[in-house]
Amino acid sequence: MKSLIVFLVLCFVSTHASNNTICAKGYNLVNNKCWKLFQDAAIHADAERNCSADGGTLFMAKNAIDNRAIASFVSTHGIDHLWMGVFCIGNGRNLCYYDDQSGSTLLYDNFAAGFPSSAAGRCVYYSVPGHPAGQWLNGYCNQKLSYVYICDLNFNDNCYFTIDAFSFSDGQQQCEQLCANMASIHSSEENRYITSLYSKTSYDFILIGGMAVNGFVLWNDGSVMDYSNLQTSDSTGCLCMSVNNSTRGSWYLADCSTPKHILCKRPIGVPNCRGAPVPITSPPVTPPTCNSGVHVAPGWITSPMYPSNYNAGCQYTLTTYGSNRIHVYFPIAVLEGGYDYVYIYDGDSKDAPRLDYWTGTNQAKGYYSTGNTMFIDFVYRSGSTKNQGFNATFISIF
Ligand SMILES: *[C@@H]1O[C@H](CO)[C@@H](O)[C@H](O)[C@H]1NC(C)=O
Ligand SMILES: *[C@@H]1O[C@H](CO)[C@@H](O)[C@H](O)[C@H]1NC(C)=O
Ligand SMILES: *[C@@H]1O[C@H](CO)[C@@H](O)[C@H](O)[C@H]1NC(C)=O
Ligand SMILES: *[C@@H]1O[C@H](CO)[C@@H](O)[C@H](O)[C@H]1NC(C)=O
Ligand SMILES: *[C@@H]1O[C@H](CO)[C@@H](O)[C@H](O)[C@H]1NC(C)=O
Repeated sequence: MKSLIVFLVLCFVSTHASNNTICAKGYNLVNNKCWKLFQDAAIHADAERNCSADGGTLFMAKNAIDNRAIASFVSTHGIDHLWMGVFCIGNGRNLCYYDDQSGSTLLYDNFAAGFPSSAAGRCVYYSVPGHPAGQWLNGYCNQKLSYVYICDLNFNDNCYFTIDAFSFSDGQQQCEQLCANMASIHSSEENRYITSLYSKTSYDFILIGGMAVNGFVLWNDGSVMDYSNLQTSDSTGCLCMSVNNSTRGSWYLADCSTPKHILCKRPIGVPNCRGAPVPITSPPVTPPTCNSGVHVAPGWITSPMYPSNYNAGCQYTLTTYGSNRIHVYFPIAVLEGGYDYVYIYDGDSKDAPRLDYWTGTNQAKGYYSTGNTMFIDFVYRSGSTKNQGFNATFISIF
């Protein structure tokens, strides 16, 4: 009996010791993740922005355990509704996307009956009360709700993101879109923590964010080399880490162009990064017809009949992942002056703030949204025209 108790204590201590999740100041450890509640209600775009400025993402549940945990986490605060990091471009679960670009809610969802319904609003919120509790509903992005930041994978004040297989340079670019770099590693504890993230994977290696030059490591994020677990010292190449049981944690050299799974790392609490616009890979691109309604970045929209003369008006909703913004670019174009107009709104309808409008000949011009949608209203009043109209391109930026 005594030895059983000792065994149990040892087990507990050892699992606890290997559990390296330490939350940054202001975050609470819930289900081995770091969460932080913001009770001050904010519109969805501001909640997103504040979360990414803090290095985290807006709360999203990808399993029933986290979905239940959020309710108890906020239960003592008298909060009914919370924004989630999920955004719908249509009514199917396959048309609602997690903000961290990990895919659609086909992976897991807890939508209430009759949802998702983008007609009720494209943003998704979590309902704490109700029967059953913890269900997801759609709502208008401009209503103000409380929200929770999360940093799922958290070690020593950094958030980590595991993403799909990419080559070394594409992987770095993908990480930069998450305001991160491919992971640098600075201690054996961090090295161990990272291997623990991959304990259930079927692949043997991941790419980490450095290159070796004769045993010396240059990290992509510019940090100094103060730790190495490189198993060779004689050559040059991109670093990969074994996540295989027998050699896990060891670093080797890999071919930079062969795609492998990527780990990104972002310090918590760094100022919001808004780097150069980089197009991101996105949900299915909708063909630019006038009746499809919602267009997902990257893409282009044209006046009807383009490049022939237009003969009708059209309205376009441009959208991207919840935490990203839209950049739309109109090259020089000609409309029937004083009759036909293009109006550009910073949101998903004509009720949103108007960024600009033009008629006649426009100068080439780009516009940025503050949230993840933009509404373009092409008004046709001339009834006949000899003008081609426009072909505008739009991309998603972080
Ligand atoms: C961390 O600890 C929690 C509970 O103490 C446990 O459920 C979780 O599996 C541990 N995680 C790791 C990676 O050891
Ligand atoms: C975002 O964070 C800042 C600083 O933490 C805070 O002052 C501001 O109220 C927050 N904005 C929203 C919309 O919650
Ligand atoms: C792990 O590495 C060992 C030694 O290199 C190798 O024999 C084994 O096949 C690897 N495991 C898997 C699952 O590939
Ligand atoms: C690694 O070990 C665990 C148990 O220790 C086992 O379940 C898993 O299949 C192993 N993975 C590989 C790739 O060998
Ligand atoms: C609009 O511009 C984009 C980007 O230059 C181009 O790929 C596309 O073919 C153009 N569309 C039409 C209808 O000309």
